[in-house]
Amino acid sequence: MTSVNNVHMVDNLTNGGMLKPSHTTKVEIKPVDNDKGQNGIRPKTTSASSILHAKVDQKPATVTGSKGSYLYTADGNEIFDATCGAAVACIGHNDPRVKEAIVKQLDTVEYCYSPFFATEAAERLAQTLTQSTNGEMSKVFIVSSGTEAIEAALKLARQYYTELSTPQPQRTKFIARKQSYHGNTLGSLSVGYHAGRRAIYEPILGSNVAHVSPCYPYRDMKEGETDEAYVARLAQELEDTFQSLGPDTVCAFVAETVAGMTLGCVPPTPGYLKAMREVCHRHGALFILDEVMSGMGRTGTLHAWSHEESMVAPDLQTVAKGLGAGYAPIGALLVNKRIVDTLARGTGAFTHSQTYQGHPVACAAANEVQRIIREDNLLGSASILGEKLGTLLRERLGSHKNVGDIRGRGLFWGIEFVKSKSTKESFPPSDQIAGKLHKTGFMPEYGISLLPGSGTVDGKNGDVIVLAPAYNITLADVEMIVDKLERVVHAVLG
Ligand SMILES: Cc1ncc(COP(=O)(O)O)c(C=O)c1O
Repeated sequence: MTSVNNVHMVDNLTNGGMLKPSHTTKVEIKPVDNDKGQNGIRPKTTSASSILHAKVDQKPATVTGSKGSYLYTADGNEIFDATCGAAVACIGHNDPRVKEAIVKQLDTVEYCYSPFFATEAAERLAQTLTQSTNGEMSKVFIVSSGTEAIEAALKLARQYYTELSTPQPQRTKFIARKQSYHGNTLGSLSVGYHAGRRAIYEPILGSNVAHVSPCYPYRDMKEGETDEAYVARLAQELEDTFQSLGPDTVCAFVAETVAGMTLGCVPPTPGYLKAMREVCHRHGALFILDEVMSGMGRTGTLHAWSHEESMVAPDLQTVAKGLGAGYAPIGALLVNKRIVDTLARGTGAFTHSQTYQGHPVACAAANEVQRIIREDNLLGSASILGEKLGTLLRERLGSHKNVGDIRGRGLFWGIEFVKSKSTKESFPPSDQIAGKLHKTGFMPEYGISLLPGSGTVDGKNGDVIVLAPAYNITLADVEMIVDKLERVVHAVLG
């Protein structure tokens, strides 16, 4: 197994089926005598770093500076961050306005315990979020990551049924989708489904989750099938799953609005979200949309669900990455009125809490990020530049012999690589195509960060590169991204 594959298998830190950055500096291991442990046995691996990095004995390049979309590393490399890390840094790096907002908050209070004290920063963020949903969501639970937001959503869905005027405690199950990613704790990993990520943890994951097909037209739509027929087929599969589990035993169906790394930026087929929500509501179950990656402007509207013709609002919604743009770890769960009212009439409390919830500094950073997105009209430009990015990608890479599909929305694009365009056969996982593209991008002659996803077809096979640049890039940046990517693709695949 080469380094990239190893990285993938040991990765316990981030995102979907994404490979961890392989822009690594091999740490020089000097086997000197005092390197032997107390009992004289030399440890298997040593490293100049005390961090348990994605690959245990390799330390990634150290970032020593940043500005806008650029990252500068200690080895003198200059990288155009065409992915905002993992679709996070959506207003670019090192923005003085956010730094100032953080310092201002520190001058007020750095932390206070949320059951004891409220802060203006958290109140303001929650209000901004609820007001952005056209009245669909009424309260917000602020946490520190996407995973935590999903955990809170699962727990709140369960608690909701125990607090109805006629409680339904038998509702203990969830339905989610294959090839999805919802986080890396045991609860979120149980609802997600990426075979490679789940494999070793399978015996300790929750057994109360059933997985249905994703919405993945490139591979799953039949020859000659219309959008309507495809959506109806997926809705029927969800209906059948409800029936086989017992419709009144299901708490919720969970899906990513625009599928992220485990599938590679696949927007829902028109009518899909509406059809799935209908099935859920017919059976009294909740409809949960995970917008940790696709939300907060990434796909051109603040909420990815507001793209669909009829505004398919969920009952519970998670957001994270673009919320704080990486200036602070922050995620949030948005909750609709029906659920809030049920709790208010019931125990009056959410049976869940975390020490750092509503962290004032993180909220202050997110408030400023959201102000910048609004006042600099970044959503408008993200939509326009996103369309341009999609057009250029199709023009310049669409006919490449190994490019199977180019799909996306806003500034969130995935390119699926195949061995054969006609049969859609993937490259064998051992070829590590996505990993090689990513690694090549980091070479000084290209200087671009590309997000690699592997196992995107079935958890084992499938290679995707995702682009998720900052919302404030320019047209020249868009052209440069496509230019660099094209050169990288030619370097790796010819
Ligand atoms: C759709 C989705 N949900 C949840 C998560 C988990 O978020 P975090 O890594 O912040 O815990 C991610 C992370 O990539 C994601 O893409």
